[in-house]
Amino acid sequence: MSDAMIEVIDLTKKFGDVTAVDAVSFSVKRGEIFAFLGPNGAGKSTTIKMLTTLLRPTSGTIRVNGLDPHKQALAVRRSFGIVFQDPSLDDQLTAQENMEIHGALYKVKDAKPKIERLLKFVDLYDRRKTQVQKFSGGMKRRLEIARGLLHHPTIIFLDEPTLGLDPQTRNQMWAYLHEMNKNEGTTVFFTTHYMEEADRNAQRIAIIDNGKIVAMGSPAEVKQSQNAETLEDAFLALTGHSIREEDASSTDRMRTMMRGFQNRRR
Ligand SMILES: Nc1ncnc2c1ncn2[C@@H]1O[C@H](COP(=O)(O)OP(=O)(O)OP(=O)(O)O)[C@@H](O)[C@H]1O
Ligand SMILES: [Mg+2]
Repeated sequence: MSDAMIEVIDLTKKFGDVTAVDAVSFSVKRGEIFAFLGPNGAGKSTTIKMLTTLLRPTSGTIRVNGLDPHKQALAVRRSFGIVFQDPSLDDQLTAQENMEIHGALYKVKDAKPKIERLLKFVDLYDRRKTQVQKFSGGMKRRLEIARGLLHHPTIIFLDEPTLGLDPQTRNQMWAYLHEMNKNEGTTVFFTTHYMEEADRNAQRIAIIDNGKIVAMGSPAEVKQSQNAETLEDAFLALTGHSIREEDASSTDRMRTMMRGFQNRRR
């Protein structure tokens, strides 16, 4: 078994004239917690989509758990859990039903007690019989996280999992992920716009800007390379765009607003 859980070499994705991901190479070790950071539009979600079989690369190689996501899609899918940037729950079903379907899909053994534990963990057990369309944005997010953790994957991909979550829920989520990482050796690959969250939780990070990796290493190494006190400062020095940082937070706000709006409209 190879030491690497994810191995990416010269990965490129073009959308027409736009090169969203530009000859990116990196690897993530088994059991590592790895953060993929970058400004809006840097190529984070596009990379996650290629790793998780949802998008076909223009060129380059990917191995996830030793497998090619495109030639061995089903086997790769079985090895990961995923929490998307955009909600992917079935609104018409209850929280419990969303969990059960996922359990059946992934052939989870003893799903019932696991579902109960996870729904309690994200504080939705009392609301398990409520249709998801009646949930708030934060509740949907928590249910997505619970669902992503249900089949105890070897690797979990989280694309901005904590966007719009309150600090307490965010801490709970990280406590659970650290527990899974420690007890089951689960590899965690996540993106976030919160530098402090990456600094605190990731063993290694990569910073991507305009489709290219501009820094990689432990948070301490990346800070040191820029002579920066905080990861936020290092990030700004590397990507050099305080304007885009403002962009990022307004886009964040917009997304959260859109979600609230969509929830209300339904
Ligand atoms: N389906 C698509 N068709 C065309 N262009 C796309 C598509 N998906 C992404 N892009 C473009 O690729 C680039 C990278 O987008 P991506 O969603 O990967 O960014 P990101 O790093 O996840 O940003 P954010 O922090 O805003 O989520 C952007 O320029 C985006 O407009
Ligand atoms: Mg994204």
